[in-house]
Amino acid sequence: MTPDWIIAKKRDGDTLSDQEIYWVIAEFAVGRLPDYQMAALAMAIYLRGMSAEEVVSLTEAMLASGTRLAWPDLPGPTVDKHSTGGIGDKTSIILAPLLASCGLFVPMISGRGLGATGGTLDKLESIPGFRADLSIRELQSVVRRVGCAITGATDEIAPADRELYALRDVTATVASIPLITASILSKKLAEGIEYLVLDVKYGSGAFMKNLGDARRLATSLTEVGSRLGLNVSAVLSDMNQPLGCMVGNALEIKESIEVLQGTGPTDTTKLTLELSSQLMVAARVSLNKLEAIQALSSAISSGSARQKYDEMVSAQGGDPYAPLPLADTGDLCASRNGFVTQIETEMLGRAVIELGGGRKHKGDRIDHSVGFEMRVRVGDWVEQGQPYVTVYAHPPQIDRVRQLIEKAVVLDAQPPAEVAPLIGEWVHA
Ligand code: URA
Repeated sequence: MTPDWIIAKKRDGDTLSDQEIYWVIAEFAVGRLPDYQMAALAMAIYLRGMSAEEVVSLTEAMLASGTRLAWPDLPGPTVDKHSTGGIGDKTSIILAPLLASCGLFVPMISGRGLGATGGTLDKLESIPGFRADLSIRELQSVVRRVGCAITGATDEIAPADRELYALRDVTATVASIPLITASILSKKLAEGIEYLVLDVKYGSGAFMKNLGDARRLATSLTEVGSRLGLNVSAVLSDMNQPLGCMVGNALEIKESIEVLQGTGPTDTTKLTLELSSQLMVAARVSLNKLEAIQALSSAISSGSARQKYDEMVSAQGGDPYAPLPLADTGDLCASRNGFVTQIETEMLGRAVIELGGGRKHKGDRIDHSVGFEMRVRVGDWVEQGQPYVTVYAHPPQIDRVRQLIEKAVVLDAQPPAEVAPLIGEWVHA
């Protein structure tokens, strides 16, 4: 088989065979297929799409590039959640310890920033000492002892996704339903979990800009996931404004801790409870959603969810009480009166990258201390001169992103016609 022939086949809209998909992924995972050929194939897939059968093969091939974990003797169900990516989306960092504090086991393999969206691993690495590169043995030991761990793909676990994810990030090939489906599911299948819940985001800060595309992505994820043996469901959630107030690596850790302590923003708390309760009910830990939400809420109010977070962070080498790195702050003030009618959320993600909080090139180092606190939400009235965004940045950078933020937050004399609900429909396989 030759890579250029496989690339040309997909470029021309043909269907790739199982053998072709397996071969190309296996070669890429061991470094025998160069980045430029994989990037060309990713672009061909982005433009031409894939059949459901091709996506199943791609997912299986990516899964087969590494080990699949098994959890034969745990005293509770193994579960996980994954988001398709958004701005300010920190729910994984809250959900893993929250569910572990309720007796579920969460061996979470997560990702880094992708496109304009932030990455759970980059956020966690703001915590001094935190390691997101656990070996299989370490991951197994932390999950057994603590109940949860959050780590990244490695040479052993989903290596093909680790490489392809980093390549897609810098080659404009992220927003592809087949590539997102295979990326997420290969990692989740490698975890060896039984139950999976997916948060499929749509809107200006998501890869799927509208509800129709998000539905198609949710259908692809749930169908391929269930064909490969997972109990999986997906919720469609709004990403037309950041989730919570904080956007940026260390800032999002700070806000996650607030949610775990019961003092975080309502939207983030609500979405985390929605996703967590779905897993509690699917795994039959709770009889129904109400019972699940009561158990989760009392884990927060009793302090056991926060304690579980501390245990997880310590077990992964971090100090849960060490000060987080935070840059200097400067307020941006509204230039006129008006209602916030729209937030161009992707632009806010781009502004974080501009500040150094995300990558422009594969392998770039990240500045964990930068980001924003959003002090307004869509529908709010703002007075001229009112501080509406606080920027965390190194002083000369604040002016660099001022224009981006002013463009991103749209003010108008009339209120917005409607504000989309945060949580939309559920999609089941
Ligand atoms: N999350 C992933 O893990 N992969 C994607 O492609 C998008 C979001």
